[in-house]
Amino acid sequence: MQSKPNRILVVGGYGAVGATVVSALDGWFPGRVVVAGRDEARARRLGGVRADVADPDAFRRTLAELGDIAAVVLCVEPPDTRVARVCLERGVHLVDIGATRRLLDGVADLHGLAAGSGATAVLSVGVAPGLTNLLARRAHEAVGGAEHIDLTVLLGAGERHGADAVRWTVEGLAEKPPGAPLRTTLPGHGLRTAHPFPFPDQHTLPGTLGVKRVTTRLCLDSKPLTAALFGLRAAARRPAVRRTLTAAFSRVHLGGDGFAVRADARRGDLHAACAVTGREQSRVTALVASYVTRELLTGSVPPGVHHIEQLPSLAGLPETLAAHGLSVWQRADTPRP
Ligand SMILES: NC(=O)c1ccc[n+]([C@@H]2O[C@H](COP(=O)([O-])OP(=O)(O)OC[C@H]3O[C@@H](n4cnc5c(N)ncnc54)[C@H](OP(=O)(O)O)[C@@H]3O)[C@@H](O)[C@H]2O)c1
Repeated sequence: MQSKPNRILVVGGYGAVGATVVSALDGWFPGRVVVAGRDEARARRLGGVRADVADPDAFRRTLAELGDIAAVVLCVEPPDTRVARVCLERGVHLVDIGATRRLLDGVADLHGLAAGSGATAVLSVGVAPGLTNLLARRAHEAVGGAEHIDLTVLLGAGERHGADAVRWTVEGLAEKPPGAPLRTTLPGHGLRTAHPFPFPDQHTLPGTLGVKRVTTRLCLDSKPLTAALFGLRAAARRPAVRRTLTAAFSRVHLGGDGFAVRADARRGDLHAACAVTGREQSRVTALVASYVTRELLTGSVPPGVHHIEQLPSLAGLPETLAAHGLSVWQRADTPRP
């Protein structure tokens, strides 16, 4: 008789985010973590297998050959939703750290498929989306239901972000979402100007929280680099400029590795704000993914596809991450009498 699936496949498992996911999960579930990536020799050296999220048929065969995979952690963005479908059809849980709206919407559409197979997928896993979603929910509840929410993300320009994350950021620069820049204070970083950026949380949160308008903005820890980056926004529509920027960001690391996320919710004259600060967003993204995976395997999360803020058992994750250096800050203003 075949044993109950209990191994975890971490795709992108030797990347900037994936390597930390592998080590955290291996600590909790020794011998049950399988590393995967396109470089077969590298994956095998880590006791893993080759897997390519751009080839769903081969991915299906890999899952069948491994036989006992209970959960897949996607630490790389696939080109489409076919790999997610392969997992959910087989009843395999999915943790997806992807940050592209089109893909998140596509996986959310597989809710019925997942509910039918008994699998759970968790989306919006990481710092942004991820911690942004959890803080948005907190601030929303603190004002008794927000009319609008502003999310601000500060990233450390000195951190060695993975190649896939750099690609995502530069692609995002070429889009110009609606909304004006915002001046806001980020704990530990002072007053900053942040610019609208196409993080997917601002599109999914109106659906999950019932808030009319959510705007997410980005700045870097270096003020001159933030100004230079957003000054290049129009030029970044040209692929050649994006290639140059991607190469520059992969090589030049000016600034620190601290990051911050702030959520401001408003309803009438009620205002609530909460924020987290920490170091190394790749590491913290990985820790969020690891705790979510642990909750899927050991907790009681309902089948179906959920964004992180829809799962009450993960609401306290910012405080849990205090053990890993995250600081949490909250404030609620009541109107003057
Ligand atoms: N939600 C958040 O807050 C958040 C934060 C950071 C990053 N992210 C997302 O996380 C992803 C990974 O970021 P990262 O910084 O870890 O990037 P990275 O260092 O470039 O890692 C990507 C990993 O995926 C593997 N890979 C690439 N293409 C693949 C494919 N087609 N099939 C299977 N494996 C593949 C790479 O190895 P091979 O090239 O050898 O296959 C590598 O191990 C990005 O999509 C980024 O947008 C999300």
